[in-house]
Amino acid sequence: MSSKKIETALVSAGRNKKFTQGSVNAVIQRASSLVFESVAAKKFATANRAKGELFYGRRGTLTHFSLQEAMVELEGGAGCALYPCGAAAVSNAILSFVSSGDHLLVAGSAYEPTQDFCEKVLVKLGVSTTYYPASIGENIASLMQPNTKVVFLESPGSITMEVPDIPAIVKAVRAVSPEVVIMIDNTWAAGILFKALEFDIDISIQAGTKYIIGHSDAMLGTAVANARCWDQLREHSYLMGQMVDADTAYVASRGLRTMGIRLKQHAESSIRIAHWLQSRPEVARVNHPALPGSQGHEFWKRDFSGSCGLFSFILKQRLTDAQLSAYLDNFEHFSMAYSWGGFESLVLANQPEEIQAIRPAEQVDFNGTLVRVHIGLEHCDDLIADLEAAFARIA
Ligand SMILES: Cc1ncc(COP(=O)(O)O)c(C=O)c1O
Repeated sequence: MSSKKIETALVSAGRNKKFTQGSVNAVIQRASSLVFESVAAKKFATANRAKGELFYGRRGTLTHFSLQEAMVELEGGAGCALYPCGAAAVSNAILSFVSSGDHLLVAGSAYEPTQDFCEKVLVKLGVSTTYYPASIGENIASLMQPNTKVVFLESPGSITMEVPDIPAIVKAVRAVSPEVVIMIDNTWAAGILFKALEFDIDISIQAGTKYIIGHSDAMLGTAVANARCWDQLREHSYLMGQMVDADTAYVASRGLRTMGIRLKQHAESSIRIAHWLQSRPEVARVNHPALPGSQGHEFWKRDFSGSCGLFSFILKQRLTDAQLSAYLDNFEHFSMAYSWGGFESLVLANQPEEIQAIRPAEQVDFNGTLVRVHIGLEHCDDLIADLEAAFARIA
């Protein structure tokens, strides 16, 4: 891995001359067919098709290779598989390492479609899942079965933002079974605020749709694997037909160039707004990993190098349907939409029972409505004014 500072690496990673061909950015090479000049060239490309030789569009072109090289420089590891979206990265990473009769352990606060994939697809293949609470730590060892093949982490937890003690989990898993493949949905940390592979995690997955793309206009999944897992992840994903188009790979690389500065601003604004929310009488609790009192804050402080713009807070009251509409329908700067990680602010709300329905391993401990926000790059003062007006609407 590079010894460069992360800001520098984000600017330079993947801008190898082989890919840029005289321009600043990598070329956009759109291709299905890649032409061989001779039988010998075809033979060479075939032998080296997994090592960055142009072979067939589904294996990638110069545009993809540039992004893959950048991701490996940023996250470490032996290679990076690309997918059409984050959900494809999650499902294909898991599928690459389980067979019928296997078992996996999945964070009980994992992104809902990740849980759905386990419940609706893996069960059909005879693969069973046990969910664990964010507070599990070394006790994860007690959930391991002889057929446990994958341990899937997500940090912080989706929507409720708990940070688990990942070193304790990894150590306990390895002590029971060194071969188990440990993977993480590392989207919140954008792959760089938590260096998963340095924590002995095998595969770091991201919905590149969020901070890498950064502009809410394209979808991407990435999975960076260590040397032990790379060949299997790459070949299985290839067989599942996983790839992204060259234009998306290009905008992803372009997103990386500004991701460091964007993340810093998202973090600064989100922390300021989180503190402001903590001071509000309407708010029972703020779930932001960078705030003392948020579950697992001490692990965030120890293991992460920063934060981003996504967090949640819980209102003291449970909003009625009419209040929910009044609250959510009238924001000036926050849009109501799924996803996050773009330049714009977003808001969504959930009632406690909706969260309970996606928390198979623990009891939800709040009664008020939960609001999840993504703090964009607008000025904090405008966002606070918007949130303040929303509180007035539910007073
Ligand atoms: C934590 C997390 N992982 C994965 C995904 C899935 O990404 P995509 O929407 O690109 O499939 C999301 C999407 O919101 C997410 O929040």
